[in-house]
Amino acid sequence: MPFMASKSGPFVGKIIAPGDKSISHRALIFGALARGTTSISGVLEGEDVLATGEAVAAMGAEVERCGVGKYEVTGVGQFGLRNPVAPLDLGNSGTGARLLMGLVAGQGLCAAFDGDSSLRSRPMGRVLVPLENMGARVSQTGENYRLPLTLIGSNPAIPIDYPMPVASAQVKSAILLAGLGAMGTTIVRERHPTRDHTERMLAHFGADIDVSQEGDDTVIRVSGKNSLVGRDIMVPGDPSSAAFPLSAAILAPGSDLMLPGIMINPTRAGLLTTLVEMGADIAFLNERDAGGEPVADLHVKASALRGIEVPAARAPSMIDEYPILAILAAAATGTTIMRGLSELRVKESDRLEAVLSGLKANGVEARAEGDDLIVEGCGAGAAIPGGGMVATHMDHRIAMSFLVMGLVSDEPVTIDSAEMIATSYPDFIGSMRAVGACIEEGDTGS
Ligand code: S3P
Repeated sequence: MPFMASKSGPFVGKIIAPGDKSISHRALIFGALARGTTSISGVLEGEDVLATGEAVAAMGAEVERCGVGKYEVTGVGQFGLRNPVAPLDLGNSGTGARLLMGLVAGQGLCAAFDGDSSLRSRPMGRVLVPLENMGARVSQTGENYRLPLTLIGSNPAIPIDYPMPVASAQVKSAILLAGLGAMGTTIVRERHPTRDHTERMLAHFGADIDVSQEGDDTVIRVSGKNSLVGRDIMVPGDPSSAAFPLSAAILAPGSDLMLPGIMINPTRAGLLTTLVEMGADIAFLNERDAGGEPVADLHVKASALRGIEVPAARAPSMIDEYPILAILAAAATGTTIMRGLSELRVKESDRLEAVLSGLKANGVEARAEGDDLIVEGCGAGAAIPGGGMVATHMDHRIAMSFLVMGLVSDEPVTIDSAEMIATSYPDFIGSMRAVGACIEEGDTGS
């Protein structure tokens, strides 16, 4: 079903962003592997995370929903999980699929993995090759290293010393998870640091994990002699979801919006750094620690943005935020150059392509040069033309980005489907409407 967003705002008030997706997945998985009970609050109840909950339950963990966003996971301890009877269906979720592959490999389990058509098209070799080095075997009849497939872990797994060939927290996390069941110490070397929630949370669960800087590399060592113990986890607000209302408020004149409790972990804060450089008025209030992650209340006001160059080195800390940054760049004065975006091509859709065609369909000049995206801003104060229909390719972040565009464009912007928004931000449209956004079902507004 298409949805249409029309010029609205100012956006004034408060929006509670959903719980962080990365942390919600990890809390459920580590809780399932730990001995005892893990109480989690603030869980993102989106389709991706719910699929991970179902998967760990299918492997023998007890997962109980005790209230909105509240879960108790009773884990089974090291090597206590069992083979799931049916294939694990991770839907649209690369994080769920790849992290659970690490779990299955390290715990000596056998599990079939499957997902929707987007997940079936995404590369899994980046995770499966190192897991094979750790002794796991992959059995499949279809295309090489694509879902559906069956993974058979070895017990115990073989520890490896792995220099990361791609900047990917999912790959790093899968190897570390497998390392929890390995005979000895598993080492991951990162040249380009990625989100470090796995490292932080494993330490919180009592794992023997060490992170150090060796020359240009961040080196993570995890011991296989692990006994994770159930813990309490408070999931902070997801900066990747908060990015959408935050951006709408920056772009709609007169806006003044509070976003309480947003995670500001430096490995996730690239968009905030970029926006401040572009001239956005964002105040970081009440900075504090919430369960091992830094959080702040973000107070954002409408701002005139200027185009900048975003360095490739920043990409891992804002990898999911480029679609919405492209919309912000379209409204800025001057040119914005975003460097080093090759990873955008293997997300839920080819995001580089999807963003480019969405921008062009709405009268914004943009081009890709190799892995760089260049957007010519329409000029702060001069609205984006809009009026286009955007193909979302069933990608939640493309859908939300172009709805935000429609809220600040001259003509409404229509997206072909809003269905996938439920994977990461189920109440996005409701929350935006509550602060005055005009988002309607259908493509004519009539
Ligand atoms: C995630 C890592 C990133 C990100 C994804 C969540 C995670 O993927 O795009 O939404 O929770 O580890 P990559 O590791 O493929 O970069």
